[in-house]
Amino acid sequence: MAIEKVSVAGCGLMGSGIAQVCALAGFPTVVREVNDALVEKGLKGIEKNLDRLVEKGTLRAAERDAARARLKGTTKIEDLAGADIVIEAIIEQLAAKREFWRELEPRCGRHTIFASNTSSLSITEMAVSTGRPQRFVGLHFFNPVPVMKLVEVTRTIATDDAVFDEAHAFAQRLGKVPVRATDRPGFIVNRLLVPFLLDAVRALEEGVASIEDIDNSMKLGCGHPMGPLTLLDFVGHDTTYYIANIMFEEFKEKRFAPPPLLKRMVLAGWNGRKSGRGFYDYSDPKNPKPVKLL
Ligand code: 3HC
Repeated sequence: MAIEKVSVAGCGLMGSGIAQVCALAGFPTVVREVNDALVEKGLKGIEKNLDRLVEKGTLRAAERDAARARLKGTTKIEDLAGADIVIEAIIEQLAAKREFWRELEPRCGRHTIFASNTSSLSITEMAVSTGRPQRFVGLHFFNPVPVMKLVEVTRTIATDDAVFDEAHAFAQRLGKVPVRATDRPGFIVNRLLVPFLLDAVRALEEGVASIEDIDNSMKLGCGHPMGPLTLLDFVGHDTTYYIANIMFEEFKEKRFAPPPLLKRMVLAGWNGRKSGRGFYDYSDPKNPKPVKLL
């Protein structure tokens, strides 16, 4: 059965991006947050993004209005139940995610596909808590969701082949480029990206070079759009620290172990762009300045 209606749980950075992309691709989309203020904040962010696309001439005003009309915000979990696919992008904590799926499952039709946007938690552990592990996949989007073309579509040993194919086709219908992966922490991208980011912190810790020189080296020497320390600030140090710990726990390999400097920054609340300070100070967001750390 082809996917026609979409629900998204969570309207934060990732959830709002996913909801925006789904609505723009023509899917009636319900997006849920836990309170009215968060629903409003998420939808306002999407409206701002859509307006920017119109201003740039990438989107026609009528297309913006049609996409907005396809989007419905809610705080009620039951409003998510009518969809053919539910994409979960709530807080990155296994207990919270399992609780969400347990609450939602009995309200949904048997055909509904469940998908988690998790970047590192076990899809299998979530799937088995639903009673429909054969209809459970990972759909991992990248930040900023409207811009990044990739979606990692992941399966467990219990996922039906037809469901995996349907989720893959759905990502294509969103205008994304899906890749297939299996349920191992970090999938493809974070498996390669996280050790690289952690090595950049180690290089800084060991005095190899300054923040700016490490970033410029990878930007100008390797053509990366952002240097690794800027990217850490963009993703959020708390998020990377959390993912790295999960990967270290799974693989027991030193390359996934978060370096002490990253831990100290997380403890200090210096989580990057969203907290105004990370490897750079964002007091003037258009002109970030490297901070003195050591
Ligand atoms: N939302 C929507 N659009 C955005 C955006 C956002 N948050 N940020 C930038 N854009 C758009 C801009 O409007 C612009 O569009 P245009 O080309 O049509 O004018 C385009 O993206 C480029 O933006 P800018 O010119 O302002 O700046 P850059 O050229 O530096 O691009 C970037 C910004 C796309 C974020 C680029 O720096 C980049 O690709 N950085 C790397 C991002 C990355 O690696 N993401 C993955 C993180 S890992 C992850 O998400 C996994 C998780 O599990 C941790």
